[in-house]
Amino acid sequence: MTRLQKTIVLLPGDGIGPEVTRAAAQVLGDCAREFGHGFTLVEQPIGGAAIDLAGSPFPEDTASACLAADALLLGAVGGRRWDSLPVGRRPESGLLELRRRLGLYANLRPVRLHAALGSISPLRPERARRVDLEIVRELSGGIYFGERGRRGEGAEERAFDTESYSVREIERVARVGFARARARRRRLASVDKANVLESSQLWRGVVNRLAPEFPEVELEHLYVDNAALQLVLDPSQFDVILTSNMFGDILSDEAAALAGSIGLAPSASFGSGPSLYEPIHGSAPQLAGKDCACPIGAILSAALLLRESFGLAKEADAIEIAVDRVLESGLRTPDIAAPGTEIVGLAAMTEAIRHHLAHALLPAEGYGWGV
Ligand code: IPM
Ligand code: MG
Repeated sequence: MTRLQKTIVLLPGDGIGPEVTRAAAQVLGDCAREFGHGFTLVEQPIGGAAIDLAGSPFPEDTASACLAADALLLGAVGGRRWDSLPVGRRPESGLLELRRRLGLYANLRPVRLHAALGSISPLRPERARRVDLEIVRELSGGIYFGERGRRGEGAEERAFDTESYSVREIERVARVGFARARARRRRLASVDKANVLESSQLWRGVVNRLAPEFPEVELEHLYVDNAALQLVLDPSQFDVILTSNMFGDILSDEAAALAGSIGLAPSASFGSGPSLYEPIHGSAPQLAGKDCACPIGAILSAALLLRESFGLAKEADAIEIAVDRVLESGLRTPDIAAPGTEIVGLAAMTEAIRHHLAHALLPAEGYGWGV
């Protein structure tokens, strides 16, 4: 059995970020103990917490720790307290700066409806049952990083943000999309707005050009408005969705809601250096400190971290099985509550997952990887 020595930088951030990150860190600690891995967990400030502490949403110390890490796990950033700050100095810009500095261009957002959660999906049960897709969102380009500014005055004052993509930027993320589709059900839906946007026309052209490299993948193109509609009408038609930074941000919230709650959805971001893992939910300041947030998105992000960055598939599977078991047992945080289920807080939910994880890790369960 391989025992790994790894450094994971934890970026708890704001609102419920610290609570869910702590839950995920406990689960990582359990896996390390059970398998004899040495995970060094280093906490660094980001977002609003970093503004308060160091005057910047992404301090240099945080940046150097991130660049030197083997993987990063983030909670969430943002909150009303920093709402009056200009765009470039807000907590969110800390996360964007992190993505930019690490060159994280491909963001994976898997969304699957757990069988036990069918009744809480906003979709009718027969439609909800088949939500099992992955969004590959471009993460370091597009309108998030394009030229922006203001000019003029009074009624003539104008603000602008620019959507722009290069062939290279589209190619590298499209390759990830095709590869993920090839490893799943081999269907790729590229989502754009090519009937209006020049950048989307380039996007579509580049994706088409790459298609022959992946002959086993069936490619289709959808306009983003239609994609939003199709997601609600028939999510089963989607396997992997490849799209731009902005469209991916919007569609992934929609898809996560279809699967029951945005609190459940994990994500992974890849570039050329260390990868970043984070739940896709926000900082939900109104829930912070009340022990009622859902830790599952963060815990499943830790599972993705183990699988994707460290190649620890069995450990990752064990975490996912533990989450499945807890949901099957009827335990629910308030966001996923349903009649006949037991509502618990973040701490009890985390404990229950860790308890099931300890069982999933036992060799007696048939996994055969005892120490
Ligand atoms: C996300 C979030 C971020 C984004 C914010 C917090 C900057 O909504 O990760 O989806 O827009 O990318
Ligand atoms: Mg978002």
